[in-house]
Amino acid sequence: MEEEAGEVLISREQIEKRTRELGEEISRDYKGKDLVCVAILRGGFIFIADLCRYIKIPAQFDFMAVSSYGNRTQSSGVVRIVKDLDVNIRGRDVLVVEDIVDTGRTIRYLHDNLRTREPKSLEICTLLDKPKERIAQVKIKYVGFCIPSKFVVGYGLDYAEDYRHLPDVRILDPEYCQS
Ligand code: IMP
Ligand code: MG
Repeated sequence: MEEEAGEVLISREQIEKRTRELGEEISRDYKGKDLVCVAILRGGFIFIADLCRYIKIPAQFDFMAVSSYGNRTQSSGVVRIVKDLDVNIRGRDVLVVEDIVDTGRTIRYLHDNLRTREPKSLEICTLLDKPKERIAQVKIKYVGFCIPSKFVVGYGLDYAEDYRHLPDVRILDPEYCQS
């Protein structure tokens, strides 16, 4: 039996279809460029693993791990880099791959940090976007799905480190918030 967390918001089939479309779009846009995808851990680990297989042009992949101070369902915007990049991105075409943009504080911080390293271009791709929650403005080039202001889990996204391995995106039912 699959672990339960709440009602399915986005099915695995919808995610797969959209991820394929994004991969094709990225492949067209970055043809002939020097693409480095920077996935943000831990939430982005499943999305990048699926997305990268639809990117049909030369590309490199690296990871950053961040931990944001806050409570379990809300980030504070104070971000700590736990693992930095191994590759040098100077003069390269960087695409940051995130699981979700909520207030935008985390991605704003990362964007500003990466910008100082002088990439040739710097864009953002996120699987999920909660546009109504935005506090820090940031331009997102590729969005998988815009979703309502609900706390979601699965497909990489956690609640207190649980539920990341669910294959679909679910709205977390308060009944499962006890841990
Ligand atoms: P932001 O800084 O408010 O944009 O929040 C970004 C981070 O908060 C994400 O990378 C997630 O780790 C976490 N987050 C925001 N909304 C959700 C959600 O609905 N489910 C799980 N994690 C979330
Ligand atoms: Mg998280």
